[in-house]
Amino acid sequence: MSEVVILTDEPGWHGARLREAFLLHGVDIRFASLRDCRFDLHRPGRSVVLPGFEDRLPDGVFVRGVPGGTLEQVVLRLDVLHALKVLGVPVYNDGRAIERTVDKAMTSFVLANAGIPTPATWVTESQGEAAAVVRAEITAGRELVMKPLFGSQGVGLRRISAFGDLPPGADYDGVYYLQRYVEPGGGGWHDWRVFVIDGVAVAAMKRQGKSWITNVSQGGTCAPVDLSEHEDLRALAQNACCALQMDYAGVDLIRDRDGRLQVIEVNGIPAWKGLQSVTRDSIAQMLVNDFVDRHLRRRALHSVA
Ligand SMILES: Nc1ncnc2c1ncn2[C@@H]1O[C@H](COP(=O)(O)OP(=O)(O)O)[C@@H](O)[C@H]1O
Ligand SMILES: [Mg+2]
Repeated sequence: MSEVVILTDEPGWHGARLREAFLLHGVDIRFASLRDCRFDLHRPGRSVVLPGFEDRLPDGVFVRGVPGGTLEQVVLRLDVLHALKVLGVPVYNDGRAIERTVDKAMTSFVLANAGIPTPATWVTESQGEAAAVVRAEITAGRELVMKPLFGSQGVGLRRISAFGDLPPGADYDGVYYLQRYVEPGGGGWHDWRVFVIDGVAVAAMKRQGKSWITNVSQGGTCAPVDLSEHEDLRALAQNACCALQMDYAGVDLIRDRDGRLQVIEVNGIPAWKGLQSVTRDSIAQMLVNDFVDRHLRRRALHSVA
């Protein structure tokens, strides 16, 4: 029986759904935290040790969480993901894809560089540069959003509508990530979340916010969206995932008052509980089917050949 490790500190609802989905493929699951993984370089070919795998490597690794910590701890945790891939263990999403999307500056750079519509964004360590951006944008009648570089679930976002709103850089670990605020067209605060697996948009929802921050964890509500009626949402979300080379991702998009659709951010470790509540097919099953078909089965075939 194949064995897959789901890397997470809180298996919870997502872990239970993934376990059920893997079981249908006859794949056994173990949960482990990246905090408990280590290097032991005296073991040729299996120098990365995961909890419960002292003498062998798992057949695959599904990443559901990279715990925060000191810079050294986070780098070590990412090293583990990179090393597993080097040792031939499929990692879903892989370490590079997670790095590109956990870091909002890199995500914005890759999107803009690939010509994907995304709001104008500035990232700097300089308080003076950040203040100059705020001054120019406010003077031009626009607003900005300041975000933690490694943020998620709508935590720590700040809307900057006046010059005095710029917080001290120290509140954001010394990095100013400033994105032009996009006023959504069509009334109310809302945006879209599109879930893409292996380059194909498989589910989508419209999120209606209690405030301008629409995350489900911030009280946003979900409404189903039929992607066949929203070809532009589908195309843009898929293009964003292609540019960032994701196995799968949750893509946040917003349409401005002129009808222009833009990608706000791309999540390489997205939650899908809210989206599942308005989606008939099991998202966990679609993810696991893709992981097993494209990574586990092909690997098994290679080792037979
Ligand atoms: N540039 C923006 N213009 C308008 N709303 C935004 C902008 N950036 C973020 N938001 C709102 O805040 C939410 C969270 O922002 P996001 O960049 O997705 O960060 P997180 O990683 O915390 O989800 C978005 O879903 C959207 O509702
Ligand atoms: Mg988001």
